[in-house]
Amino acid sequence: MINRPGQQRIVITGFMGAGKTTVAVALAQRLGCSSADLDELVTAREGRTPQELIDEAGEAAFREAETRALVEVLSEGEARVIALGGGAFARQRNRAALAAAGCLTVWLDAPFELCWRRIQKENSARPLGRDLESARRLYQQRLASYRLAALSIRVGATQSASDIAAAIIAAALAAGAPPDTAP
Ligand code: S3P
Repeated sequence: MINRPGQQRIVITGFMGAGKTTVAVALAQRLGCSSADLDELVTAREGRTPQELIDEAGEAAFREAETRALVEVLSEGEARVIALGGGAFARQRNRAALAAAGCLTVWLDAPFELCWRRIQKENSARPLGRDLESARRLYQQRLASYRLAALSIRVGATQSASDIAAAIIAAALAAGAPPDTAP
């Protein structure tokens, strides 16, 4: 692992629109480390965005590409904070890879209504969130997986990404898993 020993990776999960990418950036800033976004890693590796992969090759092909990108970043990537796509943590193979790599997993527990408002703003980018009822069903189905994360952070509309990053650090400290803030 390129990460320094003792620097546990922190992996952010949660539904589409929970704020995973922006929180990962804010958290990395606070910890003085780099962050990565799994959707962007998939895009760089495959030459197509998750949206294009799902629309053109199907969700199963996208999930395979997503797992390959995750395994790669865990074994070779430098990023210490990783934002997953909303479905990645629902796949047992991915959770096993995260556990094997000793990652601290964090669920951004945002209410469906907040996620849906944000999804609607950029609906075209989210093929699995195109209509209210299927997005709500997916949200409900995914809750059991998200609850498997080591930490859960309740997220509301008024908190900034920086507030949420601070809450993650506080929760990690309280859980006895202090993120090493040394540069
Ligand atoms: C997905 C979420 C998306 C992206 C893909 C599938 C999902 O990521 O990975 O469209 O299954 O929930 P975000 O959660 O970053 O929108």
